[in-house]
Amino acid sequence: MSELKVAVFASGSGSNFQAMLDAALPCRIELLVCDKPGAKVVERAKKKDVPVWEFSPQAFPSKEAYEQAIVEQLQERKVEWIFLAGYMRLVGPVLLGAYANRMINIHPSLLPKFPGLDAIGQAFRAGERETGVTVHYIDEGMDTGPIIAQESVDIYPNDTMETLETRIHQVEHMLYPQVIRKLIK
Ligand code: GRF
Repeated sequence: MSELKVAVFASGSGSNFQAMLDAALPCRIELLVCDKPGAKVVERAKKKDVPVWEFSPQAFPSKEAYEQAIVEQLQERKVEWIFLAGYMRLVGPVLLGAYANRMINIHPSLLPKFPGLDAIGQAFRAGERETGVTVHYIDEGMDTGPIIAQESVDIYPNDTMETLETRIHQVEHMLYPQVIRKLIK
């Protein structure tokens, strides 16, 4: 049987992408899609010979147009699953139509609490004693799709944003590969 092909979408540092590479998942990361040309995640992909499709959304007339271009790339490469890892855009109907129930995301809070940007900071500033990490399916909303897995992370009185962020990322890097492994088996 040929290996399952997946794509990762990321816009930033790519530490979750790196965790997937390091986890030696039973699938082939066929493409990294990055909407911020030059992001650190691109370097990580190149080091491991993962093909990259970088694009500037501004170079396309519409969201539909760039999503159509992405879908063409994915279908040419026979990609079956999409894993979002710090892709900082809402997914639109074109991608959702092509990959319904085959597209998941990781978010650094216990959804439905603290969706959107700076979820770690939102929880920290709210004085929460606990936050966490969620892996969920993508729908048209902002971090609203059905939840697949969650893990909580305590917030200690002596935490700073940095210490909390570090612990959250550690949990992300374990949880995301674990969930992916279960989903694709
Ligand atoms: C992670 O915290 C992830 O949960 C969120 O964006 C961040 C991406 O970090 N969606 P990285 O680029 O994987 O380091």
